[in-house]
Amino acid sequence: MSPRASNDSVEGEPVPSLSARLRERIRRSGPLTFREWMRAALYDEQEGYYQRRGAERWGRAGDYRTAPERSALFAATFARHFTKLHEELSRPRPFHLLEAGGGAGRFAEGVLRTLRRDAPHVYESVRYLFDETSADSRRRAAALLAPFAGRVEFRRLSEVTGKLDHAVLFSNELLDAFPVHRVTVQDGRLLEAYVGLSGDGDFVFVEGEPSTPRLAEHFERLGVKLEEGQAAEVNLEVADWLARAAGVVGSGFVITVDYGDEAAALYGAPHRREGTLRSFRGHELIEDVLCDPGLQDLTTTVNWTQVVAEGERVGLRALSLERLDAFLLRAGLVEQLELESSHAASEAEVTALRLDAREMILPGGMASHFQILVQKKAEL
Ligand SMILES: C[S@@+](CC[C@H](N)C(=O)[O-])C[C@H]1O[C@@H](n2cnc3c(N)ncnc32)[C@H](O)[C@@H]1O
Repeated sequence: MSPRASNDSVEGEPVPSLSARLRERIRRSGPLTFREWMRAALYDEQEGYYQRRGAERWGRAGDYRTAPERSALFAATFARHFTKLHEELSRPRPFHLLEAGGGAGRFAEGVLRTLRRDAPHVYESVRYLFDETSADSRRRAAALLAPFAGRVEFRRLSEVTGKLDHAVLFSNELLDAFPVHRVTVQDGRLLEAYVGLSGDGDFVFVEGEPSTPRLAEHFERLGVKLEEGQAAEVNLEVADWLARAAGVVGSGFVITVDYGDEAAALYGAPHRREGTLRSFRGHELIEDVLCDPGLQDLTTTVNWTQVVAEGERVGLRALSLERLDAFLLRAGLVEQLELESSHAASEAEVTALRLDAREMILPGGMASHFQILVQKKAEL
């Protein structure tokens, strides 16, 4: 990856001081691990990509569109699935639905609206815990979820005390947004890629000794050997998050939707020799991941082999890992489409719903690029 000159200013946008602060930090204390740099770029309290107040991240005007953004059918189909799980869990009261990384609340809003209309007995039992790290997104979600105020609580997973039984913890595109370490192999040795400064003050990758033994352990556990010159990412936060999830869910399900692959394909495929780290802005892929921290999204492909194995370690048994389109069809997307259409206010709305459904499930459609992992935590 060849870093391009970064001059801190983008036409029409204010000059971000995050770059200046990161430069200062590097000059003072030396290069940062990419994980630290990415954490600042995405989650710095003032100027991180997910924290910037009023920034249009989602939707047509933003940088990308997630499934809940694209189609109301996504959340509505999950509401249908949660109704089934409510039954499977013997109709608990309260029924804890937790969502981590819920963004601006579109999914939560769709689920709660559908449950209130289609399954009032489930809606009456729901306690929806919304965990979102970004204060800006929490503000937006609070406005969107105001009609369901009695059912929703804004709570960080780390703040939940005690274990919640009969709970379902859902996330969509959360794990791919975790800050990652970046590594490479030189002369047969595993090195870590840090972010330093060029003579001109641009952010550049510089190699050094691994900052933690967990990086080598990660590859040992997976039985993966990287090739000479190969670059790859390691998402250690996945393990930490799963441990937290398993600490909160006493019994029930952890449902994770994301784009990912098995470790062998992730680290072995020839087209991934540079890793999977990428950056988006205005729906375009940006070549230089290190330019303009805070102004562009950064993401990596999820390692499902790791998520399954780390889950097992903390008591989450993998029940299924499959393509999202197959899951949605089985969960009743077509039936939900008919139901939504029968409630639609106009023909135009019905047409839009049908287009959304097609975009989701047709071969090559959005959901064919995503997977869903269901893990179960059994009562001890
Ligand atoms: C790619 S966005 C997806 C948002 C939403 N789930 C959707 O599908 O539209 C990832 C979200 O996860 C949030 N996030 C990242 N790390 C988090 C964490 N450890 N706990 C809770 N939220 C987190 C980010 O602030 C961001 O809103």
